[in-house]
This record gives sequence, C-alpha cells and structure tokens, in this order.
Amino acid sequence: MELSRPMTISTTSPREGLETNYEEHKQKWAGGLQRVLCMQGGDDDGSYAKNSEAPASAITLSKPLLLTAIQSLNLKLFSRIEEEKDCCIRIADLGCATGYNTLATIDMVVECLRKKYIHECGVEPEFEAFFSDLPSNDFNSLFRSLPAATTRHYYAAGVPGSFYGRLFPKRKLHVVVSLSALNWLSQVPDAVLDKRSAAWNKGRAWINGAKKEVVEAYAKQSEEDLENFLRCRKEEIVHGGMLFMLMGGRPGFQHPENQLGDPDSSAKHPFATSMDQAWQDLLKMGLIDEETRDGFNIPAYMRSMEEVEVAIKRCGGFEIQKMEYHKIMEHSEEKHKEWIRDPVSYGRAKTNMVRAALRPIAEAHLGPNISEELFKCYEKQVSSDITLLHKTGFYGAIAACLIRM
Ligand SMILES: C[S@@+](CC[C@H](N)C(=O)[O-])C[C@H]1O[C@@H](n2cnc3c(N)ncnc32)[C@H](O)[C@@H]1O
Repeated sequence: MELSRPMTISTTSPREGLETNYEEHKQKWAGGLQRVLCMQGGDDDGSYAKNSEAPASAITLSKPLLLTAIQSLNLKLFSRIEEEKDCCIRIADLGCATGYNTLATIDMVVECLRKKYIHECGVEPEFEAFFSDLPSNDFNSLFRSLPAATTRHYYAAGVPGSFYGRLFPKRKLHVVVSLSALNWLSQVPDAVLDKRSAAWNKGRAWINGAKKEVVEAYAKQSEEDLENFLRCRKEEIVHGGMLFMLMGGRPGFQHPENQLGDPDSSAKHPFATSMDQAWQDLLKMGLIDEETRDGFNIPAYMRSMEEVEVAIKRCGGFEIQKMEYHKIMEHSEEKHKEWIRDPVSYGRAKTNMVRAALRPIAEAHLGPNISEELFKCYEKQVSSDITLLHKTGFYGAIAACLIRM
C-alpha cells in the first residue's frame, strides 16, 4: 500500500516534492496528537507486538507490587457481592496497545481477583475488561488476538479515547491499570515548536540534554497531564477501588534535563543522540528543510517519583499504597550476546524498536516515504557505532499503587 504512493523523495527537486508531502501530512496533525499517536500495529518486524520486550520486563518487575495490592483490596468496600447476585467487576487497561503484554496484563488481574473472590466470598463474580487506547491503536489486531470467549474469564470491550479525558461514567471501575503509557504526553508543548519562544527546541527531537526552557515546558505539560489523568480516574473508580500506574520515570535526584540517567543509557536510548543525528542526515540529504526537522518533537517525559507524588496529593481522593522505582535492563543477556556476534542485526533490531514506537507520528509528520528514510538513517547511525554494543543501557520506571478513598 505504502509503495503505491508517489515517491516524493525521488523527484528531481526534493524541496518541491517535500512541500506537497509535508502539507498533506500536516493536515493529519491538525486533529491533534491524539489522532496520530499510537504504537505501530500489526505483527511484522517493526510492530509494537514484536518490540515490546522492555515494557514486558517493566511489567514483570512490578508484578509483585500489583498482585500484592490486589490481594489487599477490601472486597466488602469495593463491591456488594453478597447482596448483588449479579455482581460484575470492571477492570480497565488504559494505553493497552496490542500484543502479548496487553492480554497477559488483563489475564493476570482477572485471575488474581477471581481467586480472591472464590477464597473470601465463595462466589465468582463476572468480569468485564475494557481495553482502552487512542483511536489510532490497532484494535483490530487486539480483538483478533483475544482468546476464545469460552476459554477466558472476562467479557471484553474496546474503549477508544485519550486517558487525559473522561473515558467512563462515574464510579464505573473497580481496578484500573496503565502500563508504560503515561510517559506519553497529551501534546508537544506549544512553546517548544514556537520559533519566537525561548523554549524553541531547535535541532533536537527530544529533551534529553536540551536547554532549561525546553525541559521546563515539557515538565509543565507533564504536570498538567498527570493531574488531568488522576482527576478523571478519581471520578471513574469506585471507593475502595484501585489505580495501578507503571510509567517510564527517573529517581528524584536526577534532574529533568537528564531524562535517561547514566551516559551509556543516554547514548543508547532511541530518542536521544542517534535520533537527532538521523534527522540531521535527512536534512543533509536535502529531503527535509530545517523547519520540518524542528517541527518534530517526541511527546514523552520521564517523571520523577516526587513529580508523581505531588500530582497525586494535589488531586486528592487517592491514598498511595506503595510506590517503587525500578531500573530495567534494556535487553536480555541472550540478545546482547547475539548482537555482539552479529552487529548488523543489532542495528536492525534497534531500528525496529524505534519504528514500533515512532513510526505513526513520524509518518504523520513526514509521510511514509521520508519517514522510512529517517529510520534507515537511524539504522545506519546505530550500526556504524560499534561502541554502543559494548555499553549497557537501562530504562527507569515508576510503579505506583493507589487506592480510591
Ligand atoms: C508503550 S505502549 C504500552 C502498551 C502496553 N500497556 C504495554 O505495557 O505493553 C503505550 C501505549 O499508550 C498509548 N497512549 C499514549 N498516549 C495515550 C493517551 N493519551 N490516551 C490513551 N492511550 C495513550 C499508546 O497509544 C500506546 O498504545
């Protein structure tokens, strides 16, 4: 499908082709980030389903916290199962994407609750699971991958929409989880894209190591977003219900301009130097102009533990049961060994990860052909720097378990 489009990059005048392409794709952004942001759907090598190892590790590390929190829920406060024979427990996964993590998460929560009900109340309620994500998410793949209705213990429904707004009626939900999703902001702060502003983020695709004003603009957006998220969930979750958040984050001592921690983790992170260099390469090749490069910023922010705590307290209505910070190794040891033997496959794998997260928004900005060139430039960058292979990168994640008071 993509190849049937006119190849703007092969026109004799790249600028001329670029303008048509850029204008066309700018239209897509007109509806806002929520219309274009999603992980790459499907199940090919560049899909999120095939590139979600790091979020899977984050889930594994925070699983004990989630399960312990479910175990400690007060079912009497939470639902009136003895009085209501037709009791239904409603669970939502906000920012569910598609793939193994999505189904495994709901399965894990339902199983834990089901056993707890049987053990404590001698009855098994019905469960309804809401898979929620932005409308651009690949819900078709998700629904196709659901286990047959006869083999799962829950009814399933999809809820399209942004979790920075209301998604459910008041007091509808008992357990809400949001995993590796809240680090995506509702928008790129306007000032960052404004040439006249001190926060204009010229020459960078993201904020790691950016100037103070840029980082402050992102931090402010992140603060507003998290508060909006919490205020909406406060309405939607029943008293005694639970909100479990797992998000990319940083420890308190790490300043916000250092989003990624140690130098090796920064060097290897897909949003950092190699990504900026790939944009620079597109510019050098004459495929884009400076305006196009500077108009692209990744809407992600790694909050500190303190920033999360302040937002929770400011919102009110939740008690923090537990909060943890985890450092997650970017890849398994096995993969690392495999890549040392075959560095070319390292570049390819790393680029597929970046495609999985950024392709939809890069395409909306550049169109499919130039965005593919961007990923090729990225792959070249990563494959040519063998030193990266000998560095170990980590991701930071914050897990917080809250009870609705
Ligand atoms: C890295 S994926 C995580 C998916 C899954 N929860 C996991 O742990 O593997 C992040 C997901 O958050 C979704 N997302 C980002 N911003 C969102 C928003 N404002 N509202 C709803 N979902 C959002 C993205 O579309 C994406 O599917």
